[in-house]
Amino acid sequence: MKSKQADEPQERRGFIGKITGGLVAILALFPFASGLPALLDPIRRKSGSAKWMSIAPFKSLPDDGLPSRFPVIANRQDAWTTYPKKKIGYVFVAKEISGEIKAYSASCPHVGCLVDFDKSTEGFRCPCHNASFAKNGVRTGPENPSPRDLDPLETKVEKGEVWVHFRKYRLGTKEREGIS
Ligand code: FES
Repeated sequence: MKSKQADEPQERRGFIGKITGGLVAILALFPFASGLPALLDPIRRKSGSAKWMSIAPFKSLPDDGLPSRFPVIANRQDAWTTYPKKKIGYVFVAKEISGEIKAYSASCPHVGCLVDFDKSTEGFRCPCHNASFAKNGVRTGPENPSPRDLDPLETKVEKGEVWVHFRKYRLGTKEREGIS
């Protein structure tokens, strides 16, 4: 019969062997693990994600306080390819009499048609199902198919350019929920 003391070095050797094996496995995975984020980066990077977009020179905005519609032009990107500049949406931008810059998404929150601004009524109107909005984007009229006001966007002026934090929102919902 083997004594307990005789078994101990063998048990220790087994334990050390397991630890060493585990370390070798971890080290063998390291090059993969360290390269994985870079490999997955294009997949995680969403095309059309919310971002600051240069819209127009500040000087080009009319002084009457009324909004003008501008295209949003960006490099379009899928998982691995960047495509040259393309229109990804429209925004309305207004320089208010106070000098403050206001911007709204030009997509109607109902089902996404492009809204127009009517200078004669100083209000927005959607040609698809007649949703209407005041100059400040608030819904007007008793039977408005839009479930919410126009979606406001953050703005800033930098180096003489007006920038808008462009993002898209879920359509047809009362709550404003950013989807990009
Ligand atoms: S999409 Fe604008 S009212 Fe329906």
